Amino acid sequence: MDLMNYNPDREIWTPPGGPPQTDRIPAAVYEAMGEENIFAFTRAFYLRLAASSVAHLFPRGERNLMAAADKSAALNVFLMGGPHLYQQRHGPPRLRMRHIPFVIDEAGRREWMRCFRETLAEAPEQYGMPAEHVAAVEKFYDDFSGWMVNSKGEETGGEETERRRDAETE
Ligand code: HEM
Repeated sequence: MDLMNYNPDREIWTPPGGPPQTDRIPAAVYEAMGEENIFAFTRAFYLRLAASSVAHLFPRGERNLMAAADKSAALNVFLMGGPHLYQQRHGPPRLRMRHIPFVIDEAGRREWMRCFRETLAEAPEQYGMPAEHVAAVEKFYDDFSGWMVNSKGEETGGEETERRRDAETE
């Protein structure tokens, strides 16, 4: 976990009701797409994030950005009905905990979802996602992303979480 962005003084907000109970994505999504398409889908999603209003949260430079995308893709393989790829590579997901170093408010979540939806719109044609399951995929990520929100939104979200990774970028 990158603790460089962690401000111990900030107030962590926890969504009431705990982790959302939401329907699993049908395994038919993984079966149709396979690992390669899910990775390509996630990389396209991360390219959109890098050009969005939450870009400051993500690594700079294509190599670092794609490394982050591939971590996310490994989990997407599992969430879309495939094997436990993320768990094998990186251990237990503990997703809310892993997102705590980044200030994520509802506005940030919505922007993240906008990027996700735009990628989803091209997914049947470009990444072999079954068109009949697109709505189920969208609903799962829309519901589950609420659990990553950890700020009520008083923070402006800019400088505090600005990544200090210049030395790492190529
Ligand atoms: C369904 C919702 C989400 C899922 C399944 C998800 C999944 C993931 C995964 C698997 C990782 C890699 C964790 C690690 O191994 O370190 C990650 C990292 C990250 N996520 Fe999410 N995420 C979600 C929502 C969000 C939202 C709403 C935001 C912000 C608006 C966000 C921002 C980030 C950031 C900044 C990282 C760190 C990237 C890096 O530097 O490696 N995520 N996410």
